[in-house]
Amino acid sequence: MEQIRIQLTENPKQKPNMDTMPFGKIYTDHMFVMNYTEGVGWHDARIVPYGPFTLDPATMVFHYAQEIFEGLKAYRTDDGHIQLFRPIDNFNRMNDSAERMCMAKVDPEFCVEALKKLVEIDADWVPTAKDTSLYVRPFMFADEVGVGVHASKTYIFCMILSPSGSYYSEGINPVKIMIEDQDVRAVRGGTGFTKCGGNYAGSLRAADRAAEKGFSQVLWLDGVEMKYVEEVGAMNIMFKIDGKVCTPSCHGTVLPGITRRSILQIAREWGYDVEERLISADELVEAAENGKLEEIWGTGTAAVISPVGEIAYKGKSYVINGGKIGELTQKLYDELTGIQWGRIPDTRGWIVKVK
Ligand code: PLP
Ligand code: COI
Repeated sequence: MEQIRIQLTENPKQKPNMDTMPFGKIYTDHMFVMNYTEGVGWHDARIVPYGPFTLDPATMVFHYAQEIFEGLKAYRTDDGHIQLFRPIDNFNRMNDSAERMCMAKVDPEFCVEALKKLVEIDADWVPTAKDTSLYVRPFMFADEVGVGVHASKTYIFCMILSPSGSYYSEGINPVKIMIEDQDVRAVRGGTGFTKCGGNYAGSLRAADRAAEKGFSQVLWLDGVEMKYVEEVGAMNIMFKIDGKVCTPSCHGTVLPGITRRSILQIAREWGYDVEERLISADELVEAAENGKLEEIWGTGTAAVISPVGEIAYKGKSYVINGGKIGELTQKLYDELTGIQWGRIPDTRGWIVKVK
């Protein structure tokens, strides 16, 4: 792949107080952009000052939503270094999304190198306070102009950076989730396994209804029988049932989370029985009533490991582990964040150093 052209900003932004930051509201000085043209491939790779795109009103993404994205983080270690967690997995997953959405594939190795360069340039924006990080948002959209329905012949790929604090206002404190029994997120053969913007647009109504009732997010059921749990709005879900770690299998309707994959590997290495299978809402209710639903937690880049203290289904609420973070959830949180922030050595080749 070609060289990356670099144009540094002449007007660096004033940095906010980076000790108390919201999630995803502040952006750094630079962004990475490249263009794709059918028959030519990716070209004009560049790091430029952060700024808006100018797009024709007939640009295809506005009409038929060919848009995909990713989410990963750069972490500041105690000794001042900066590192990424499994970045290649994000660009590989982006290619899975691209394939489903008839979009251009990227070169994952090139994207990791471009990201390292971008983070290095904006290194002063990687926060140092506990539990903060630099959230990275790679995304791609169709920028061909035209209102006929077909796959675009041109795309823009971009990466922006956002110094961020906790995704949930609860932080590591347990969240409340509600099993959604009206709207569905994904069906077999659909786009559930991709990170396309449309999946999230379709999820907003249920999330709003849940928020009105005091829940942080919804737990989706499968789109065919509305019987089996799948995942939460922005994270995968895991249960400790009678000593075993159980999570819904990824069979096309669930986003194959990179945190999920990492946690399952760690749990297996620690000797837990790990089951990836169909888990019905009824099974969860029964386990909760029998005292066997010992812990619930969500996994995600933004959400990290998020304990679930209460789960509601059909108007009834079930408190998990007395509403407190479970022992295994805490242990997994400590292990994962230890690796990500460099407090625990990376023995699995998950960490990529930036500087
Ligand atoms: N499920 C959904 C719907 C998500 O948006 C995310 C976040 O990316 C996840 C699961 C967790 O995936 P990952 O661990 O790769 O961040
Ligand atoms: C992530 O965890 O990176 C996500 O993309 C979740 C959400 C912010 C959409």
